[in-house]
Amino acid sequence: MRKPLRLRRYLVHFSSYNIPQVFTDVLVIGSGVAGLSAVLALPEDLSVLLITKGDLSNGSTAEAQGGVAAALAPDDSPEDHFADTVEAGCGLCDEEAVRLVTEDAPERIRELIGRGVMFDREEGDYALTREGGHRRRRILHANGDATGRVMHDALAERVRERPNVQVFERTFALDLLTLDSGCHGALTWQATHGVMMARAKQTILATGGCGRVYRETTNPESVTGDGIAMAFRAGASLQDLEFIQFHPTILYVAGASRALISEAVRGEGGVLRNREGERFMPGYHPDAELAPRDIVSRSIVEEMKRTDHPHVYLDVTSMGAERMESRFPTITALCRRFELEPSEDLIPVRPAAHYMIGGVRTDLRGRTDVENLLACGEVACTGLHGANRLGSNSLLEGLVFGRRCARTAAENLRTMPEALSVHALQGLPQEPAYGNLNLTDVENSLKSVMWRDVGVEREGEGLDEALEMITFWCRYVMDKEFREPQGWQLQNMLVVSRLIAMSARQREESRGVHFRSDFPEADPGWQRHIVISDTGQDWL
Ligand code: FAD
Ligand code: SIN
Repeated sequence: MRKPLRLRRYLVHFSSYNIPQVFTDVLVIGSGVAGLSAVLALPEDLSVLLITKGDLSNGSTAEAQGGVAAALAPDDSPEDHFADTVEAGCGLCDEEAVRLVTEDAPERIRELIGRGVMFDREEGDYALTREGGHRRRRILHANGDATGRVMHDALAERVRERPNVQVFERTFALDLLTLDSGCHGALTWQATHGVMMARAKQTILATGGCGRVYRETTNPESVTGDGIAMAFRAGASLQDLEFIQFHPTILYVAGASRALISEAVRGEGGVLRNREGERFMPGYHPDAELAPRDIVSRSIVEEMKRTDHPHVYLDVTSMGAERMESRFPTITALCRRFELEPSEDLIPVRPAAHYMIGGVRTDLRGRTDVENLLACGEVACTGLHGANRLGSNSLLEGLVFGRRCARTAAENLRTMPEALSVHALQGLPQEPAYGNLNLTDVENSLKSVMWRDVGVEREGEGLDEALEMITFWCRYVMDKEFREPQGWQLQNMLVVSRLIAMSARQREESRGVHFRSDFPEADPGWQRHIVISDTGQDWL
């Protein structure tokens, strides 16, 4: 008989008696927009430790192209931004979250400008572009299509100036430390020191999404869902994991790594054509290329099938070389690397996994249901996006909720004892079963199955097959104890993939970014969230 598959509480065994420990008031895990915003909003009399698994700029934030949304134009208002966000969310937005984010947006932008972010201007005013589902021009950008990099650099510079903040780069968070249902920091690893404990009174999880569980993705290599998996092991509830957003336009050149072509390119007049050169989006939606992303992605897949072609084309030839080069310098350079001249050539594109809408469930103060554990940014599910995210709303979400988490942490600290708890903590000793595994092979197989069966279009049989395969891999990967990030990341990716596939299997309807070809309509009975937590039962 097969032994039950139970989730181990910790990925490695450890004991607080024999590993190095550091102590801090607040531990922030992740140095993207959410983590950095949290650090900057913490009072300067607190000790803060910021850890990140690569260097400070690692993660999705620095890759962001399109921009950040805020109602700043004279013909725009937070109410309109609210209405567009709620409409895109297909009945699943938490309207209170949407209200506070859209109302807070202009202030957060002013704060960013104060911190040194120079947004692009046109004729003296801030240049605002449009993206799908936004009925007004409300997307600010910087250095054309390098918004994320500009924002990240400014925030990181301000963080480095803070004397109360210690930054540990190349420090991998393995697991959150818990005792008596509260979080006490994290178990971490560095190549030079091995496994360590970062003990904290308050922990803010800001580890980003999980796009790398898919073969085709816009996300950088490090985005492997670690935070979602570790929060799940620590007892936090997860919400809406079936809602993975697929970005419609990723440069598709066989053999090259996938790279995003911003939606803002369509906002500035780029159109989509099929292999016959026909512009097809007007036939699918009245807003054509600026329809919500899920509709554009599915229309592209439909055209690829109909024309039996591995991609469609983005046509920006009407923009002219000069405009393209000044407005989208990164994208222009990228195309040229593959001998594509955007002002003359059609650009081959197709959809790829882009954004995790679900995540660790939080309230509006960033609290998870593990005491003293807060979460913000892409790892969190605040309810802002509902079943579909509007472009450029997630940098904004990181700014707003990073700050809110910091405020909650500071408030919590006021009522906590001065001294840090130093209870003995240990992960149960386990039988290390190192075995002889080809981790890269399992990882590639996982990504392919996720792309094929849990991708833009899903159906029951494919999801069952995906679950069967993932469960099979879990059986021989999850009982191992690894010594380096590649193994831990694979374990996290398996956990997250399984939970995404389970949620997608459960939701027998189509809503927002979740499309089931066997249940193609939205079902009012399903206008609710899927919330998962580890019950300690057999996981299969
Ligand atoms: P990230 O920026 O991904 O940062 C996560 C951090 O956590 C990193 O520092 C990482 O090193 C760290 N981390 C992860 N795991 C561990 C671990 N185990 N131990 C230690 N550290 C860990 N959104 C917009 O609003 N506008 C855009 O124009 C836009 N363009 C995008 C373009 C691309 C190519 C991509 C991929 C995304 C884009 N998005 C955009 C989405 C947006 O960039 C992200 O949702 C957002 O940046 C997430 O911020 P974050 O702080 O939550 O996570
Ligand atoms: C893009 O530039 O198209 C991405 C914007 C986003 O994901 O918010």
